[in-house]
Amino acid sequence: MGIAIITGASSGLGREFALQLQRSGEVDGFLLVARRRERLLALAEELSNAEILSADLATMEGVRAFAAYLEEKRPRVRVFVAAAGFGKFGDYAHLSEDTVAGMIDLNVRALVLMTHRVIPYMEKGGYLITLGSASAFTPLPHFNVYAAGKSFVLHYTKGLRDEIAPLGLTATCFCPGWVATEFLAVAEPEAGVLYPQNPKPLLEAKRVVAYALRRARRGKTLAVTNWYTKLQHLLFKLLPDRVLTVLWRKTVLKEKKQKRA
Ligand SMILES: NC(=O)c1ccc[n+]([C@@H]2O[C@H](COP(=O)([O-])OP(=O)(O)OC[C@H]3O[C@@H](n4cnc5c(N)ncnc54)[C@H](OP(=O)(O)O)[C@@H]3O)[C@@H](O)[C@H]2O)c1
Repeated sequence: MGIAIITGASSGLGREFALQLQRSGEVDGFLLVARRRERLLALAEELSNAEILSADLATMEGVRAFAAYLEEKRPRVRVFVAAAGFGKFGDYAHLSEDTVAGMIDLNVRALVLMTHRVIPYMEKGGYLITLGSASAFTPLPHFNVYAAGKSFVLHYTKGLRDEIAPLGLTATCFCPGWVATEFLAVAEPEAGVLYPQNPKPLLEAKRVVAYALRRARRGKTLAVTNWYTKLQHLLFKLLPDRVLTVLWRKTVLKEKKQKRA
């Protein structure tokens, strides 16, 4: 069978992938990766044969720790889910250099380097799921670096699909709309910054993960959740970027106000 390796397993979508893969019985173990060790340990107790790796994947040290784990344990990997990621609302002037670099280093660099490391341990019939986003489909000012990074992930996954096809492996880019996880709390900006307040529809992690797994098992390259996100996907293909950018600015973004003490 082989194990599932899941990054970002301490919360949200990554955690849900682990639970659903356990129930499906299609893997015989897990490697759970994220920073928060206690969360990983608690999840490992709910799964069978789960190991954890607590690492900051935004650093090269964290990525190398993952590579070292693979070299030492040489696991047979059936499923790889690259779910570790974060976004922060804010324009070029409001985001710190560390936050900008962190988004690129985690959402893009770590995802690519870890994927390349894990492929040699995967056998025919295995599949990879990369976390893109509906924000991968169009430029999003005030969420620009995050959205551009997800666009990279989408294109990268589509290209990878052809590279790994001869190995009998598939790659699926999972592009959900807003999902109820810790993501939005992490993305919350400081006062004076434009951002979408109470973004809707807010999807349920359980449902979107079940859908992503169905798509991945069928070897589909793209998993775009629910009718609303599918409609967005279609419109993004048909309408010029400029129109979408204006709509996003006018209808979605509101200024973050200072909370009264
Ligand atoms: N929720 C949404 O609306 C939404 C929509 C589209 C796409 N996505 C994408 O889905 C993925 C999962 O997000 P989520 O919604 O599940 O959010 P979440 O609940 O905040 O989970 C994010 C995960 O990433 C891990 N992570 C963050 N920084 C890390 C670091 N430096 N090193 C290692 N792990 C790190 C977190 O673990 P630790 O904090 O323990 O390290 C956590 O397990 C992300 O790639 C996100 O961009 C989310």
